Amino acid sequence: MSSSANHASKNLSNSAPANIHTAVDVLLDTAYQNISAAQWQDLFAIARQTHVEEFIADMFAGKHINLSEDRPALHSALRNLSKSPVLLNGQDVMPAVSEVWHRIEALCNKWVGVTDVIHIGIGGSDFGPRLAIEALAHVPGIESRGMRMHFLANIDTAELARILERAQPNSTRVVIVSKSFTTLETTMNAKAVVAWLKANGCTKGQIEKALFAVTANVPAAKAFGIEEDHIYPFWDWVGGRYSVWSAVGLPIALQYGFKAFEEFLAGAHAMDLHFKKASLEQNLPVIMALALLHQQETFGIKSYAAIPYADALDWFPKWLQQLDMESNGKSVDRNGKPVKHSSPVVFGSSGSNAQHSYFQLLHQGKEVIPIDFIVIREPMSKLAEAKEHHRILLSNCLAQAQALANGKKTDNPNNTYPGKRPSNLLILPRLNAFYLGALLALYENRAAVLGALWNINSFDQPGVELGKVLAKPIESALKNGAPVSADANIDAITAARINLFNS
Ligand code: F6P
Repeated sequence: MSSSANHASKNLSNSAPANIHTAVDVLLDTAYQNISAAQWQDLFAIARQTHVEEFIADMFAGKHINLSEDRPALHSALRNLSKSPVLLNGQDVMPAVSEVWHRIEALCNKWVGVTDVIHIGIGGSDFGPRLAIEALAHVPGIESRGMRMHFLANIDTAELARILERAQPNSTRVVIVSKSFTTLETTMNAKAVVAWLKANGCTKGQIEKALFAVTANVPAAKAFGIEEDHIYPFWDWVGGRYSVWSAVGLPIALQYGFKAFEEFLAGAHAMDLHFKKASLEQNLPVIMALALLHQQETFGIKSYAAIPYADALDWFPKWLQQLDMESNGKSVDRNGKPVKHSSPVVFGSSGSNAQHSYFQLLHQGKEVIPIDFIVIREPMSKLAEAKEHHRILLSNCLAQAQALANGKKTDNPNNTYPGKRPSNLLILPRLNAFYLGALLALYENRAAVLGALWNINSFDQPGVELGKVLAKPIESALKNGAPVSADANIDAITAARINLFNS
C-alpha cells in the first residue's frame, strides 16, 4: 500500500489567526461562529471534563465504546494503511483487513469486458460508495474504466426498472452489499436482479460468475448462492454507516482503480492520525463539534445545514444525514438517561443551487441554522469557462456567509436581515480520492466527538427497528386484500388506511 507522506497533517503556526485551523491540507475557518477566545476556552474545558481525549484514545484502541452492542467501533482500522497492529480481544485485525485489500486489488485486475455494475445495498451500504462514485466522476482527467455504475437501494421498482432498461445482462456484474445480509430491500432487489439475468438467458454458471457479495454475514451470502471466493467480508465491529472504507467501497476501486481506493483510504487515515494526535485546541473534528455545541447552547439550534459549493459533492449531505442522525439522533444517553442535546436535523445540497431554494429561510427565518460551507479551491472542469465560473461560485459562497453573519438593518422589516447566523468555511485544496477520504473521515470523527460531548452511543441505531417490524403484518394485510380491523399489531388509523388501499 502506498503512503501519503506528502499529505501529513499540519497545523498552522501560532501566528495564524485563531479562527484558522488546518489538517491534512483541509482548512477550517471558524471566524463566523462568533465565539470569543474566552468562550473557546470554556468549550475546550467542557471537552476535557467530558473526557473527549480519553474517548478518542478508547475508540482507536478498540475499546467497546458501542455499549449497547458490546463492541468496538473500529472503522479506523479499515483505513489504517500503516498496518500498525489494531488489537481486538488480543488479536490483530490488520492481517484480515489487508487480505481483503489484496483481494480487491486482484479483482480490479481481473475484470475485463464488464459494461455494467449493479451495486445493491441501502443506507450505509449505499451512500458512501454512491457519493464517492458521483464525486470522483467530476474530477477532471480521472482515469475511469467507464463502466455504468448503477446503485439500487430502494424497494420501489422504479429504480430497478430504470437500471434494468440500461444494463447489458451478459456483461453485468452484481455486487450485493449488506452488513447483515437480511435487509429486505437488498435481498429482494438482489433476487429481482438474478431473475432478470435468468430471464435474459444467462446460464447458472454465468450467474455465479456475475454475483458478488460484501457482508459481515458470510453464511447468509453463501446461502443466497454466492460463491465463497466472490464474498468480501467485513466485520461486526464496523458500523454500516462507517463501512465505505471496507469492501463496501469496492465500486471506487473497480471504476477508478485500486490506487484511487488506496488514496481514498489514505486521506481518511491521515485525518485519523490528526484526530488521534492533535491537541483539542488544534483538532478539526473537535473544534467543529464544539462550535455546534456552542450554537446549541446559545440559540437552542434544532437544525444545521451542510452546503458544498461543488456539484461533485451533491450527495455529501445525504451521506451526512445518515452519519449524523442515525449516529446521534437519540433522546437518551449511554446510561438510558434523557439527554440535554442530540443531533440537530441535518440537511443540505450543493450551492449555488441551494441559494435559490431554502436560503430565504436561512437568512430571515425564525430559527438560527448553522451552516458548514464547503468549497474546493480548484475548478472541477477544464472548460474554457471554468475559472470564471469558479470565481463566481466562490464569491457566492463567501457572500452568503457574510450576509448571514452580519445581516442588514433597514427601516423596512421585510428587508431586514437579522444576521448573527453562524457558519464554518471548509476549504479543500482540490477534490480527488484523497481529499474526499479526508473530508468523510473529518465528519465521521466529528460525529464521534459530538456523541462523546452529548454522552450518546453513536454506534447503534435501535430506532430503525420498530417500523421494520410493524411493516410485516401490514404487508400481509395488503397482500391478503380483505378488510382489516385494529388488532395488537395494527391500530385503528392504520387499519383504515390499509382498507383504503384494499378497497
Ligand atoms: O435500517 C438501518 C440500517 O440498519 C443502517 O444502519 C444500515 O446502513 C442499513 O440499514 C443497511 O443495512 P445492511 O448493510 O445490513 O443491509
